[in-house]
Order: sequence, then C-alpha cells, then structure tokens
Amino acid sequence: MDKLTIQDIDLSGKRVLMRVDFNVPLSIGGVADDTRIRKALPTIRYILEQKSSLVLMSHLGRPKGKLVPEMSLKPVAEHLAELLDREVLFSEDCIGDAAEKQASELKPGEILLLENLRFYKEETDNDPGFSQKLARLGEIYVNDAFGTAHRAHASTAGITKYFNTCVAGFLMEKEINYLAKAVESPEKPFLAILGGAKISGKIDVIQNLLPKVDALLIGGGMAFTFFKAKGLEIGKSLLEPEKTRLAAQTLADAEEKHNEIVLPVDVVCVDDIENPTKQINVDVENMPPNLIGVDIGLKTIALFAEKLEQAKTIVWNGPMGIFEKPDYAKGTFAVAESLADRTEKGAITIVGGGDSVAAINQSGLNEKITHISTGGGASLEMLSGYQLPGLVALTDK
Ligand code: 3PG
Repeated sequence: MDKLTIQDIDLSGKRVLMRVDFNVPLSIGGVADDTRIRKALPTIRYILEQKSSLVLMSHLGRPKGKLVPEMSLKPVAEHLAELLDREVLFSEDCIGDAAEKQASELKPGEILLLENLRFYKEETDNDPGFSQKLARLGEIYVNDAFGTAHRAHASTAGITKYFNTCVAGFLMEKEINYLAKAVESPEKPFLAILGGAKISGKIDVIQNLLPKVDALLIGGGMAFTFFKAKGLEIGKSLLEPEKTRLAAQTLADAEEKHNEIVLPVDVVCVDDIENPTKQINVDVENMPPNLIGVDIGLKTIALFAEKLEQAKTIVWNGPMGIFEKPDYAKGTFAVAESLADRTEKGAITIVGGGDSVAAINQSGLNEKITHISTGGGASLEMLSGYQLPGLVALTDK
C-alpha cells in the first residue's frame, strides 16, 4: 500500500482520532454481529499500547441527518468495552463543546466513542465546517474504516485537510493489500466467482476482472439474465430485462477477446419459492417455462469445483442461489467448501460482499478463508478498479 500507516508515525502520548466502520447490525440485546468491531481491535489495541488516548467515530445505518435513537452507537460502546475488557466512554454528540471537553480530558489508554456521525447530514454532505469540528477532537487522524472508504464523507475525506498527516490502520492496510494484489498482480491461475441477484450491481466488476482472470464463474440470480441473452428459456426466474443486451454484449466481447466466462450448465428449479411442491435439477437448455431457478445444479457444482481446483488466487462475491433457504443453499456452500479446500492447499482466497460473507460464516468455514473483507460496497468498488476516496485522502508514503 502506498499510504502511510500507524506504524510509520509516532503516536506516543497523542490523542488519536480514528474513523472506524462500526456499521453493524443491532438486535434488542445489543450487537447482533460484531465482526466489524472485532476486526478493528488490532488497531485499537496498538494505539492504546502507545500510551495514546483514542477517540473513535463511526456511522451506523442511514439516519439521513436525523437523530434516530435506534441507530445510536451506545450499544456498540458497551460491546466494545466487553471485547476490550476496559471502559469505553461515550459522547452523546459527535461534535460540539461537550464532545471536545470529553476528548480533551482523555488520559493515556482511555477510549471515547462518539455518537453516530450520520445524525448530522453534514457528514454525508462532506461539509468542510463539520469536518473541521470533528478534527478538533484529535491530534492525529487514522482511518481504519475500510467498509466506508468508498464514501467521500466528512469523516473519511474532508477531515484529512485539517491534519498534516493522515494514516491507515491495520484493517485498512490489510484489506487494501489483499484486494489490490488480487486485482493487480494475482498469483495465477486467478479465478473469480460472482453471484447474487443482479447484474446491475456487478457489471463494473465483471468488466474490470474479465481481462485479468483466467476464468470468471457466474452463478446466482444474475446468471438468468445471461441465459436470456443467449436465447434460453428461463421460466419465471429472476430477470433484469433492461440488462439483457448488456449481458449479450459482455458474452460477445469475452468470446472475441478469449476471456473465459463459465455459466452454470444446470440449475435447481421450483414451482414456488416459499412452498414448493416440485423441485428438480435441469440442464439450462431444458428449463420448463413455469419454474423458477433457485440454485446452481449438481453438474455446475462439479464443474465449478473442477475449475477452482486449478486456481492459486480466488475472489468470490455473491451467492449461487437463495442460500438463506437450506433447500437452495447447496451451490453456495459447495463454493465455500471449494474455497476452503483451495486455501488449505496454498491458494489465496478472498471473499467480499455481505451475502457471500454471511454464507461463509453460516458454513462454518470462515477460518479457512485467507481474507474475508469487512467491506460490501467498498470491496466491490475495489474489484471494479475504482479508487476509494477514503484511501486516496490519506498521506502518501
Ligand atoms: C457498509 O455497510 O457497506 C458501509 O458501512 C457503508 O454504509 P453505507 O452504504 O450506508 O454508506
């Protein structure tokens, strides 16, 4: 990574202001999934070890500039305190006199978490005045919020103008190193597997990765728009009619440039997603007009496994079917197993995107993946070859 990190500067005794992505799901009892909080712990611990004090800031949800009590970060402060086994102070407001007083009174080793930044619309507006107010809360700025690095917001982009040096935390560094290496200089063979419901969210990824990968495997709901583009019957499966032409063009371009796209050869179909009375595995050429495709089929599972068997680098984004329902989860979990197997044999495996990360976690194979990204949109943008404003704004090495 060509940006400075916390290890490049002297933090000792300083008050560090760090942007984290604690945009985590909450439940009545508190934090429902603390993955993102846990992933920020190495940076938090490192900063505290330098006898620094720490002001943490994050958004949670999309309150759109309103104070929405259900989107308070208070439960996150409590959860973080449990994880660190030390007190985490909380500021009811992320800017203003009270927050500034609390921040200035922090002693070495103390932590203060600010209330949700997005209770102010100035945050998403990247408002300079708001950035400046936030900047008053710390002497050194660290960004460890990879999940929000694709947003040019006051706390990720604008704020960097008010510090001489802005550095990345360990999580940011790790995410960038894995994702950038996969996209720019992967160990070959390099395969990508894309799934999920829609082509629209992934077309930039497809176009950026196609010339770089040895093969691009496509499953999930978006495969049906490709089948439609090939003139196949897709029954009542998910279709983006306005993307059919784009899908046809993508297939034609890939063929012309000898970029390999591997589509499913068979699918699992049902007559009704919620209450199926019929579930069959059919070749894609034989799909009945009244059925709905819900997963890749058995031949495709074998085909994808065979393709992945050769790979030294694999990037996976998006499930192969409606994996939330156990009957339609076989394809997605088979991909998860292939990745775990390849990791054990020395390949670099990277999983990004909320649904595929949820699937990996559900499969219990998460420990067997080289890198699971904490970024949904951010990892997609990196795979699309875009620059991340939150990263660009940090100080060059
Ligand atoms: C995410 O969950 O992808 C990040 O926290 C960014 O959230 P946003 O999409 O609401 O900006």
